[in-house]
Amino acid sequence: MAITEGRLIMNGLRSAVSKGKRGRMGTVETSASTRKRSKQAVKEEDTTPPVPQSSFHTFSDPADVVQLRSQLLSWYDKEKRELPWRTLALAESDINIRTYAVWVSEIMLQQTQVATVKEYYKRWLKKWPTVQDLAAATIEEVNQMWSGLGYYSRGRRLHEGAQKVVLELKGRMPRTVDDLLKQLPGVGRYTAAAVGSIALGQVTGAVDGNVIRVLCRVRAIGADSTRPTVTEALWNLSNLLVDPERPGDFNQALMELGAQVCTPKGPLCIKCPVQSHCRSYHKVHVKQEQNTAKLLDRKGSNLPDIEDCINSGACPLCPSEPWNNDLGVQNFPRKPAKKAPRVERTLTCVVTRTREEANEEFLLLQRPNKGLLAGLWEFPSLLLQEENSVEEQKKLLCNEISTTLRTCLSETLIRYVGEVVHIFSHIHQTYVVYSLCLKEQDTQTHTGKTQWLDRSALQEAAVSTGLKKILKLFDSADGLEDKNSKSGKRLSHTGGRKTDKPRRAKKPIGAAANGGGKQLSLSSFFNTVKAE
Ligand code: ADE
Repeated sequence: MAITEGRLIMNGLRSAVSKGKRGRMGTVETSASTRKRSKQAVKEEDTTPPVPQSSFHTFSDPADVVQLRSQLLSWYDKEKRELPWRTLALAESDINIRTYAVWVSEIMLQQTQVATVKEYYKRWLKKWPTVQDLAAATIEEVNQMWSGLGYYSRGRRLHEGAQKVVLELKGRMPRTVDDLLKQLPGVGRYTAAAVGSIALGQVTGAVDGNVIRVLCRVRAIGADSTRPTVTEALWNLSNLLVDPERPGDFNQALMELGAQVCTPKGPLCIKCPVQSHCRSYHKVHVKQEQNTAKLLDRKGSNLPDIEDCINSGACPLCPSEPWNNDLGVQNFPRKPAKKAPRVERTLTCVVTRTREEANEEFLLLQRPNKGLLAGLWEFPSLLLQEENSVEEQKKLLCNEISTTLRTCLSETLIRYVGEVVHIFSHIHQTYVVYSLCLKEQDTQTHTGKTQWLDRSALQEAAVSTGLKKILKLFDSADGLEDKNSKSGKRLSHTGGRKTDKPRRAKKPIGAAANGGGKQLSLSSFFNTVKAE
């Protein structure tokens, strides 16, 4: 690409304003002109003063700010969704309860969509209506309540924070943005600002993902929105815009606009209350008019100007890529390409036992208290280090489960079920699922963090969404087997899908070598099932 060389050189320059890497040029250039200017730029770098931020990316007329606030808030008052935390923040007169309740909502909303959070939020506040109630809960109860929401450290931090408020702050929630930030674990700049403005009426902007998108579009900020210079510009902008009379509503209105109108894809500009302030919208329209004029060959006709940044080329907030007509306002914001997620394969085994007069039970192990899915319960699992055959995988699982249950099982009891893919933010996880049905005598002992739960207890337990997916696959394989056995068909061990067919016996299918019962061979196992 023509501008590559220039871009690389420019990128290497240190900006005196931000101490970060400087923004790239916004216009398409020829390689010759770029080379020339790059040399100049290198020379100029030490002598030129920092580039002042162009008013193009902010609001220089206070009247525009007043108008934008009023337009946005009127729209919000009419169009906002009724959400439980909003209702509560308006209705709750006790400042401690209000702050606690908004804190919980903001933590839940950090990485989870509004629609999912709603029910979790209601259940949470019903169980723990005050910070004191949450502090008195166990981490196990918290994990259980959080089960399925993802990013489990959030729930743990809320719990830790509540205990800190009760034990160290005399039960009084922090009352300022600064204190929220300093005193509560898991509360960063955005969450402190959101809670401070919504619950405490503190006049501060709050910049989350939706707000980044809205502000980048409104003020045509096209540089990588994760860069510190851009982040600072966005916070300055939101602090400038926030309504001093209704800071919480204003911040939520910007978020709401991002969620309902100024959406990542297919934004509804026609419905936007602040369209008249939107530089991207303006640009799209001027471009369209220019193109129409060109098509009609109306050279030199009365075309509107595209207002542009006076610093374009050296501006740390201007786009690094040329404008793409097809994208329209979606030219903004711009993010760096995402890092590819780590790819992992994990062996997991749904181990069940059936006992006289008891429901089928599942073996669960607790994960360590730190790291991914900390403290949650899972089926026995092993991270796969290398590609191996089904037989080898069965052996690995068998050893693992035998160790856990302090017994000696045979891998012939283990059935392949299928695969489940679960995407974490940074891991593309494939669970290779097996099943194993045991007799009670094989399940008398076990190591530390282990428990047997029946289905209803399992559904209530602190387990991850990944486990729920595995269970669903296990159940569907079970259903498939039921259907096939009802129609007289029997799944062959090797035929059909892959190497080893998904199947599972309803009843215990064998016993441990040391457990009294005789181990069954694969063929005798099938005969046993048939006989049932
Ligand atoms: N996302 C983060 N905070 C929010 C809020 N208060 N309302 C809606 N969406 C949000």
